[in-house]
Amino acid sequence: MGFRKDFLWGGATAANQCEGGFDQAGRGLANVDLAPTGPDRLAVITGKKKMFTFDDEHFYPAKEAIDMYHHYKEDIALFAEMGFKTYRLSIAWSRIFPQGDEQEPNEAGLKFYEDVFKECQKYDIEPLVTITHFDCPMHLVEKYGAWRSRELVGFYENLCHVIFHRYKGLVKYWLTFNEINMILHAPFMGAGLYLGDAEKPEQILYQAAHHELVASAIATKIAHEVDPENQVGCMLAAGAYYPYSCKPEDVWRSRQLDRENYLFIDVQARGAYPNYAKKELARKGIEIKMLPGDEELLQTHTVDFISFSYYSSRVASADPALAEQAEGNIFASVKNPYLKESEWGWQIDPLGLRITLNDLYDRYQKPLFVVENGLGAVDTPDETGYVADDYRIDYLAQHIEAMRAAVNEDGVELLGYTSWGCIDLVSASSGEMKKRYGFIYVDRDNEGHGTLKRSKKKSFDWYKKVIATNGADLSN
Ligand code: BG6
Repeated sequence: MGFRKDFLWGGATAANQCEGGFDQAGRGLANVDLAPTGPDRLAVITGKKKMFTFDDEHFYPAKEAIDMYHHYKEDIALFAEMGFKTYRLSIAWSRIFPQGDEQEPNEAGLKFYEDVFKECQKYDIEPLVTITHFDCPMHLVEKYGAWRSRELVGFYENLCHVIFHRYKGLVKYWLTFNEINMILHAPFMGAGLYLGDAEKPEQILYQAAHHELVASAIATKIAHEVDPENQVGCMLAAGAYYPYSCKPEDVWRSRQLDRENYLFIDVQARGAYPNYAKKELARKGIEIKMLPGDEELLQTHTVDFISFSYYSSRVASADPALAEQAEGNIFASVKNPYLKESEWGWQIDPLGLRITLNDLYDRYQKPLFVVENGLGAVDTPDETGYVADDYRIDYLAQHIEAMRAAVNEDGVELLGYTSWGCIDLVSASSGEMKKRYGFIYVDRDNEGHGTLKRSKKKSFDWYKKVIATNGADLSN
């Protein structure tokens, strides 16, 4: 027994990390364009430092990224050569609505994605489209304060109307918000929220999250109305929390931190705010303003499947000293002494993927989709430009193996797997090019130098074989 016959093997990217062409064909500026490389990045993406325009002191890697805007045909042909059944990509909102609040879309932006989807169709690659992968038009950030404003729900609804109609027949798998829980950890990157010295940042974050949750339910509703074939998923930055020890307080802390993330998916998949969340929000003095009809929308339009990213498990401790040490990370996690880590300190835990798959399936009983997983590493091409990335093959093989165990031995229902950054692209957390995930090497460095030439790494042929054998042969 192996993966289902129609298992969707593929790779994933996000518009802002690969397209570039930030000002092409009428595209408007977006929050994600304004995240620079270097020491200020963390403060900008977490909404602490205001960066609403480009300045001369910083380098902004998303402006050109790997220029997939002009290279998409070549790139999709390479994906097809690997045998991709699906390609996960996101649309840039500000290509379609440059300001975000217009009534009429920008035809050039719509046409661009239509061409991309048709290119996929040429090779029988099913697009899996993230409607927002962190991006929000800057005009919406400046005029409305991004998702803190209820008006964003209407603008997002308008976007959904337009894309579901225009791409009917070309796209049937949709994800509403990439890593929706990221809003709590990187609010400017995740949702355009600049918090500055806001008195009660959590009030803003949870209200904005509510707006996204309502928008997600509306998107699901419209998607199903426009085409009953449409399948809509939510998307969680996943990774189960382990208790640091079997001390009950550590176990309890791990449950609390898991719930902080599950809250979003509980709403999107089960249709209501869970009691634990209502209690916790009340304890924190957070009041979510709802409009009449919100609860019904959430209840009626739950997602069809649960998608998630998985890079690592996490560790929780009730010990204040250990907890403090964990706080510098985007997702607070104590180091796990049993695990190795990547060059960027991300811990490697394939069994954690099996655990996470089981946790999510036990909790929601809906089909799952692993839409991000991979190893960010420094690749060093040899004199011919070839990268022998055995470390990446090892990482991916172990994770696919864990996924297979979850399917075969535990009975988890899994629709597919798209590894992150199937072609090298800009890192979301660090803005670097040096942190590479791809099967395809792109000649570009952290400072934006390079020819942009694409070359196949060793993992390219390996993944091709994995797909051809439907995951049966993972050998290197
Ligand atoms: C996820 C995001 O958080 O992780 C991606 O959805 C991101 O956008 C990926 O690129 C890997 O993280 P990083 O920071 O290594 O790029």
